[in-house]
Amino acid sequence: MFINKVHAALLRLQLRLVVAIMTVIITMTSFVKQRRMSHENGITAKGRVRVVDNPTFPEHDFFQAGREWPCRIRHATVLFKDDAKMTVRGASLKFADDRFESPFDMLMNTGRVGLFWNARTFWDFGMMTGKHGKFFVKYLAKYPQSLYGGGDSSRRNPVSFGEMSFHTQTCYAFVDTSGEFYYCRYRLIPIDDWEGTDSGALPEWWRDHNWLQNPFPDEERSRNYLKDEYISRLEGDGTVEYRFQIQLRKPPHDHEPKWVTAEYEWFEEVTPWHDLAVVTIDEALDYTEAMLTWFDLGFHPPSLPVPTGKSIDDPHSLNSLRQAGKWAGKARLLSYKLRGMPEKFPDTRWSPDWEQIPPMPIPPGPRPADDNPRQIQTQ
Ligand code: HEM
Repeated sequence: MFINKVHAALLRLQLRLVVAIMTVIITMTSFVKQRRMSHENGITAKGRVRVVDNPTFPEHDFFQAGREWPCRIRHATVLFKDDAKMTVRGASLKFADDRFESPFDMLMNTGRVGLFWNARTFWDFGMMTGKHGKFFVKYLAKYPQSLYGGGDSSRRNPVSFGEMSFHTQTCYAFVDTSGEFYYCRYRLIPIDDWEGTDSGALPEWWRDHNWLQNPFPDEERSRNYLKDEYISRLEGDGTVEYRFQIQLRKPPHDHEPKWVTAEYEWFEEVTPWHDLAVVTIDEALDYTEAMLTWFDLGFHPPSLPVPTGKSIDDPHSLNSLRQAGKWAGKARLLSYKLRGMPEKFPDTRWSPDWEQIPPMPIPPGPRPADDNPRQIQTQ
């Protein structure tokens, strides 16, 4: 009994240490490089979110039928400043039209499952990709599940941010008005014409080779094509609409179930999706406002708790890390204040900030007439 208690305390301590080290590394990098760790390449817009009129989920004090909030959404292409790279895309939803303060924020990525699923795998992902630039073959080789997750979550040349689905992957909690506890997962999907397959979802060969992330050599579109497409959808009276949905699962009373892990999806045949709210976006925000908008998983009512981990192998440990990501956001904003806002990045790939990973000596797209001997970043 005593030994068990000591063991549990040591595991907790190990997790705290990993969270602390990761937080310091990510916070310092965000300050020095003036960027969002993973989702720097994005677009922000605003609109409204409205809970459905006839909920099929249990009665809830926050998600009451017909309740409405102003909202902001931020879509991003992960890691690379090039929308034509084969990579994961994100959707961050804030239940307020505000740069930060909000009653509820939720962060989602493409893919039913992702590249990591607890603090241990996230640590390895960070350390192994850090050492080899963003080229993460060694990590994929160590964890075959991450090869599956990378294939499931990466998108190649999607038509629009409005034609993909975005998932929380990790579990959150939902306490209904009677006090019943559920684990839950959220997703954001296009309101119509979506039959379960995202624009840009990978065919089998690309799923198995999802580290080959560069654009195709004949790519003609701008590095910013997805953001430009989203802005053009919102011009005039244009809107982009989504369904925000939830899956709910009651855990057994006597132990933590294995299905809380982000390694596996919850099949909808077993755990159906319930419509939670409709999100209607109608106005793109300017660059400065977009850069100053940030999100925090700490924003949630008490009836939507965020479970945290007890060890680095506990699936909820990913949430422990994600909550600490707030310090990186603060550091990034402080760096804007002290050193000014970073420049918008250009449309051309013939610019020194374009990253070719894996190595690709000739960037796709038209070569500018005034191109001097180029110095492309290789990491
Ligand atoms: C399933 C796992 C995860 C998902 C779905 C996810 C999703 C996201 C999304 C959508 C964003 C963009 C936020 C924005 O638009 O500003 C983001 C940013 C970020 N995430 Fe994650 N994330 C995950 C795991 C993690 C982990 C393990 C960490 C570890 C600390 C982390 C740290 C961060 C940081 C530091 C930012 C940038 C914050 C800022 O500068 O404002 N994320 N994440």
